[in-house]
Amino acid sequence: MRASLEPGLSRITLRHGDITSDDSADAIVNAANRSLLGGGGVDGAIHRAAGPTLLAECRLLGGCDTGDAKITGAGRLPVRHVIHTVGPVWRGGGDGEPELLASCYVRSVEVGDAAGCAVLAFPAVSCGVYGYPLDAAAAVSLEALAAALSVHVGVREARFWLYSDPAYAAFDRALTQLRETR
Ligand code: APR
Repeated sequence: MRASLEPGLSRITLRHGDITSDDSADAIVNAANRSLLGGGGVDGAIHRAAGPTLLAECRLLGGCDTGDAKITGAGRLPVRHVIHTVGPVWRGGGDGEPELLASCYVRSVEVGDAAGCAVLAFPAVSCGVYGYPLDAAAAVSLEALAAALSVHVGVREARFWLYSDPAYAAFDRALTQLRETR
């Protein structure tokens, strides 16, 4: 199992800051809600930076299921696409949250690869309003992303933009641990 992570693991990088500042990715992944009609957190930041055309395009998508991902243009953002994914709300971990969170990363890579995106920028999906504990989310997210990248070699790099010190520390610990135990 671990062996299949290696090719993808080496293509994951961590950044500390605002994902909307990424002007070299091909797509920015948004931690949206099922309506795709905007919200707070990183969803709000992305819509503010992209401008109203992003919401107009999202309205045509008919929402998005938890664990799925849908792609749009990027409005005024300096990237080609926004990939909207909907993470699970944390309810204690016994309600399929890990599988749904993993699916967000797998589906986002699939959709990005299909659109020819070589570099994807990710936030820490579900780690804010949706309450997913950071250490648990980091382990699930990194393992799912590494496995997806190992399959989708068209995605050359996936970079996590961690907005808070605790989030960066959690993902850094989890990435180090995955690299040591693979
Ligand atoms: N850049 C990068 N990361 C950010 C930014 C930003 N500009 N703003 C917030 N974050 C981080 C948060 O600190 C958190 O670690 O993104 C992570 C995800 O938090 P949320 O944005 O709250 O997303 P989530 O927990 O998935 O909840 C989704 O919140 O904003 C609403 O419409 C959204 O209903 C949906 C829900």
